Amino acid sequence: MSDPAAVDDYIASKLLGDDEALSAALRANAAAGLPAIDVSAAQGKMLHLLARIAGARRILEIGTLGGYSTIWLARALPADGQLVTLELDPHHAAVARANLDHAGVGALCEIRVGDAIATLAALPGEALFDLVFIDADKERYADYLTAAVRLSRPGTVIVCDNVVREGGVIDPASSDPKVPGTRALFDAIAAHPRLDATAIQTVGAKKWDGFILAVVTA
Ligand code: SAH
Ligand code: DHB
Ligand code: MG
Repeated sequence: MSDPAAVDDYIASKLLGDDEALSAALRANAAAGLPAIDVSAAQGKMLHLLARIAGARRILEIGTLGGYSTIWLARALPADGQLVTLELDPHHAAVARANLDHAGVGALCEIRVGDAIATLAALPGEALFDLVFIDADKERYADYLTAAVRLSRPGTVIVCDNVVREGGVIDPASSDPKVPGTRALFDAIAAHPRLDATAIQTVGAKKWDGFILAVVTA
């Protein structure tokens, strides 16, 4: 019997190819002591494809870590595109800056260091984003969602990572402190008049988890 992580390796070998900059980013993250909680390669490629399908010119990411998902997303942008990524930890941001520059997407990416709630509040509502990827502290996803919609236009794509949590999302006995925030996110989306959404469960290199995919309506 094969296992989900081995299937992720198969998917990567068939469809993703070797990529020096992405591999180097993961090595640099590990060397700098960052946790290995980046999206998987297959998930990164999915984010990249979603951004291309959406024709995204402006992308907002909440939760940079070492910029692995940022590289995937930035590579979907046109030459005059822009990606703004928000990170609390200055050490993570410094590692990400080096990784983004090494990958050749540094000029397209702005890393804003600080608590994302405050950074989001300071972003003007005029220059709207085409795609938002929410992947920071799970406790406050519902607040990030509210901010993301304020910075969206009809048609903006919103993706939220890590919303299944090995099934913890529906387990009333779960001791995962991130589960209440995840449930608050589902409630907020379900009640939101301007969001149409689904959630897809995933297995693979990153165990049993899932993401929400939403579109902002008029
Ligand atoms: N998107 C990355 C992984 C992000 S991990 C990837 O897939 O490659 C989550 C990140 O969110 C961590 O780097 C963490 O420091 C950051 N974070 C946690 N709380 C935050 C906050 N309040 N504001 C901004 N970033 C935060
Ligand atoms: C965690 C965060 C993530 O963004 C992720 O993809 C996996 C785990 C975490 O905080 O544990
Ligand atoms: Mg994540």
